[in-house]
Amino acid sequence: MKFAFVIHPTSLDDVVRYEPGAVGKGRPLIEKIMEWMPAYAAAHVTGVRTPDGRETEGWFVGATFLPEQMLALPRERVYQKILEAIRIGADLGAEIVGLGAFTGVVGDAGITLAERSPIPVTTGNSLTIAAGVKSLLRGAREMEVDLPRATAVVIGATGSIGSACVELIAPHVEHIVMVARNLTRLQRLLAELADRVPCSLSIETDVRAAVPRGGLVLTATTSTQELIEPADLQTGAVVCELSLPHDVGQRVAIERPDVLVTEGGNMRVPGNVRFERVREPGREFNNAFAPGTALACMSETMVLALENRRAHYTLGRGIDLAKVREIETLATRAGFELADMRAFDKPITAETIAAARAAAQKRRATSAERKRAAV
Ligand SMILES: NC(=O)c1ccc[n+]([C@@H]2O[C@H](COP(=O)([O-])OP(=O)(O)OC[C@H]3O[C@@H](n4cnc5c(N)ncnc54)[C@H](OP(=O)(O)O)[C@@H]3O)[C@@H](O)[C@H]2O)c1
Repeated sequence: MKFAFVIHPTSLDDVVRYEPGAVGKGRPLIEKIMEWMPAYAAAHVTGVRTPDGRETEGWFVGATFLPEQMLALPRERVYQKILEAIRIGADLGAEIVGLGAFTGVVGDAGITLAERSPIPVTTGNSLTIAAGVKSLLRGAREMEVDLPRATAVVIGATGSIGSACVELIAPHVEHIVMVARNLTRLQRLLAELADRVPCSLSIETDVRAAVPRGGLVLTATTSTQELIEPADLQTGAVVCELSLPHDVGQRVAIERPDVLVTEGGNMRVPGNVRFERVREPGREFNNAFAPGTALACMSETMVLALENRRAHYTLGRGIDLAKVREIETLATRAGFELADMRAFDKPITAETIAAARAAAQKRRATSAERKRAAV
């Protein structure tokens, strides 16, 4: 069975990557063009092959709005372009469609779109959650974080991805600070989870107040601005970034060599996956992934196609943890695994991690020395 996946540029860099002809055009012009541009089939994805010989192929179909436009334009107009993209995928032969980045966030996170779609829909959030938590815990191991005594900060905790991440991180740590802007929703989440999870929980609406409290930080927000200030991070902190567009900027990489930032939602795809531009066959579609990898939400859609699942899967903001576990099992069986660590468009090597650990040790020693001198 074949799949489609709706993509959209999450930054101006993405616009140029998808359409090199956009180089040099200013943001206002790009926004105007995108406002009126119809959805289009951007990439043909081939070569997905499981170790037991199952294969699938599919298409990335562009619903050309930037994140800010997805949030600001009338909802119906955004839905119309996403539905147009879905129909293009269905006409190409896809029997399931995934909703990438903000196309799975707008409105009720896929429910209305699923009602109006000619083919089954998933946001891909279940596998994103599984991959994100695994990735955070891998980073913690690499940075030798004492997990049972650690505090984790989950930014975007009331969201579809964030709330499920809180539940899955909870058995591993001592405390979780749940962060979002809306206090009422945070209070409701706290009341819902307090007796259900094994660690203690607190809530915070100010990202800058929350970040210094945790040695582990996971971000899954719909902010269109960078949220994390380098100075706020604990020495040796591990940051797992799931947000698209990112919440963590290059400044963290430059100013905080002692911190490990990792993009949590990347998976290695089994087989020999290729992304080819539909308009220029033979030319690679540049999506900024490491070779052989795709986002976890794309991977979820591929796994469902490989399983011949002709039914909606992840929809809405209340994530079913049973589905997170199921899709993780199905993905592993199909040969998908967590991709090597990566951040800021670069691989994270063993040397990078060793350097971050050493920088953290040095920073701790310096701060201990300063404290002794001050006494
Ligand atoms: N890496 C991947 O494979 C992958 C896959 C799917 C989605 N994503 C990305 O994951 C992110 C979250 O998606 P979702 O479906 O969970 O969205 P969602 O359900 O809309 O949740 C967004 C969360 O972010 C919070 N938030 C928004 N702006 C914030 C700010 N400025 N400061 C603090 N919190 C803020 C929201 O609460 P308040 O409104 O109360 O602040 C909410 O808790 C998106 O960026 C999406 O593109 C990544």
